[in-house]
Amino acid sequence: MNYKKEFTLNNGVVIPHLALGTWQMSKDEAYKSVVCAIENGYKLIDTALAYDNEDGVGKGIKASGIKREDIFVTSKLPAEIKGYKETLKAFETTMDNLKMDYLDLYLIHAPWPWEEIGKDCTSGNIESFLAMEELYKKGLIRAIGVSNFEKQHLDPILENCNVVPAVDQISYYIGHNQKETTSYLDKLGILTEAYSPLGTGRTLKQEIVLDMAKKYNTTPASICISFCIKNERVVLPKSTHPERIKSNLNDITDISKEDMQILNAFEIK
Ligand code: A2P
Repeated sequence: MNYKKEFTLNNGVVIPHLALGTWQMSKDEAYKSVVCAIENGYKLIDTALAYDNEDGVGKGIKASGIKREDIFVTSKLPAEIKGYKETLKAFETTMDNLKMDYLDLYLIHAPWPWEEIGKDCTSGNIESFLAMEELYKKGLIRAIGVSNFEKQHLDPILENCNVVPAVDQISYYIGHNQKETTSYLDKLGILTEAYSPLGTGRTLKQEIVLDMAKKYNTTPASICISFCIKNERVVLPKSTHPERIKSNLNDITDISKEDMQILNAFEIK
């Protein structure tokens, strides 16, 4: 099956199509999973300061022996940290953890602190993004973006900042494909990254997914990941199991146009 194995961001930087997601991995799990992923051909690793595993990720990348320029590394500014100086400081911590001298992609983790979902942090987000622009201009980050942002969070960034975010990383899986946000992102040329493509495991048990897996003689995980790939989203499955890490990259199912329509129309109640 032919599918895009990389995408070009709105600033010309090329990003691979599939990442190892590391949310909910300990440092040691992140270390082992990153080594395994790179050995099996992964070119994109996604972490965050808030995951508390950046140093495991950094050590894993080093241990794998891959050249720095051959691996794409994403990290995120914690959702609780808003403001110019605060952002510069958090970035420094991330770089110390990873033991790297540049980052490929840096994202604002969420428009509001996780403890205060929905809070209006517009000015804090603008300040943070302006600080990220500074780091971007200095060459310390190759691309900057956001995560968990919807239109109302993105618009103030577009109005008050100078760089258009390259990426919005959102939760995205069969039954939850955030049509409104993704069509806005598509219109703006901002790449959608799909986190929790397996619905953190729950989507693997959905009847519609099980039926498709049976029809295509494949696994539910392959249906979930291939759904994102067919929709041209960068996909970030998380696994700590070597055999799953491998199959998540390689077992891609050529889901028909008709079945993609069915899957795209399905909504979890
Ligand atoms: P594990 O890390 O033990 O492999 P998401 O990427 O949507 O956040 O989902 C991650 C969850 O799905 C984790 O619990 C992970 O478990 C599990 N998972 C990842 N890949 C597979 C797979 N190929 N088959 C079954 N479960 C998987």
